[in-house]
Amino acid sequence: MKCLQKPANILLKTPYLSTHKLKLNSIVMKIKKTIADKSRISEIDFDNLEFGRQFSDHMVEMTWENGSWSQPEIKPYGPISFTPALNALHYGQAGFEGMKAFYYDEKTIHLFRPEDHQRRFENTCKRLCIPPVDMNSFMTSLEELIKTDSRWVPRKRGRALYIRPFAFSSEEYIAARVSGKYKFFIITSPVAAYYKEGFNPVKLTTTFNYVRAVKGGTGAVKAAGNYGSSYYPAKKAQEEGYTQVLWLDAKEQTYIEEVGTMNIFFLIDGTLITPPLGGTILPGITRKSVIALAKSWDVPVEERRISIDEVFEEDDKGSLQEIFGAGTAAVISPVGLINHGDRQIKIAGDKIGPFAKKMYDAITGLQYGEIDDPFEWVHKIHVS
Ligand code: COI
Repeated sequence: MKCLQKPANILLKTPYLSTHKLKLNSIVMKIKKTIADKSRISEIDFDNLEFGRQFSDHMVEMTWENGSWSQPEIKPYGPISFTPALNALHYGQAGFEGMKAFYYDEKTIHLFRPEDHQRRFENTCKRLCIPPVDMNSFMTSLEELIKTDSRWVPRKRGRALYIRPFAFSSEEYIAARVSGKYKFFIITSPVAAYYKEGFNPVKLTTTFNYVRAVKGGTGAVKAAGNYGSSYYPAKKAQEEGYTQVLWLDAKEQTYIEEVGTMNIFFLIDGTLITPPLGGTILPGITRKSVIALAKSWDVPVEERRISIDEVFEEDDKGSLQEIFGAGTAAVISPVGLINHGDRQIKIAGDKIGPFAKKMYDAITGLQYGEIDDPFEWVHKIHVS
């Protein structure tokens, strides 16, 4: 195995260029970069990737102390050490993002809507009282990380390099109050499909015993606790043979919200319906891409409250055509079955519906650069 040179301090002379090329950010950043002694890439079986299980050679790290973020640093991926009194472990002041990089050719990697992800991460940080990482530091360090680990971007279609930026309170302090120290990292992981079903339909169930989010809570941001607290109801659902919980609103337990790992869409009588963002639903980047694509195909789109009873009624009438989830990790995930109390519906014969397939092909076609990108969603990274 070739030993790579370390450490190197690099001065990025070409700062990050916004996707829409409206502005060239003039801040030149100094990124300290330490290359791993030995790459672990030969240990990875790119034909059998498990979602989120294997990590690339490097990561980005930034530290918030004395009222400002440090310059980003790229270093070998590896354990980080903290004291048992790490504030985030006790009170969950932690938030994250999820985005993806796609292989285009030997010299080009695509990021999908990275600035939207940065903005959503900023909202997450603000809601959790974590100092946001600015667009320039986020994008410049991310680009440099992807260039450094470009060989980790899987080449086969259907696979991607999943990017996980996250931040948390890192003070050694167990009083429940806003911390004075924070850490920000970006790690990456070569992935295939999120669900074991792949692109095959998933089975969802509602629950009356648990709720995901209430108005005024943290349901509209990627707070770590949103996910941890869904494990127990998800485990119960899985024990009963379902893939995930289909969350209903917390107040009336009537209106459909989302799946927790993805937003949800219903194709009813040719109209695409999805629950509106009202403070309890995550504003998915894939969700808004699906809405924009459907509109561009002249498919009527309604962002409105939809009750679980309405879904069953439309199915009785024969108007329910398809249901699918949309998320960064899940991409487009057809729903084959919904369980609600003692009722069940099988959707599109538990098969992949033509609309979900068309949407999947369009989104992934854009991501891999196979089709034109009129929305300018793809951010190209040139790898030397
Ligand atoms: C994503 O889709 O990127 C998410 O963050 C969901 C997570 C459960 C993998």
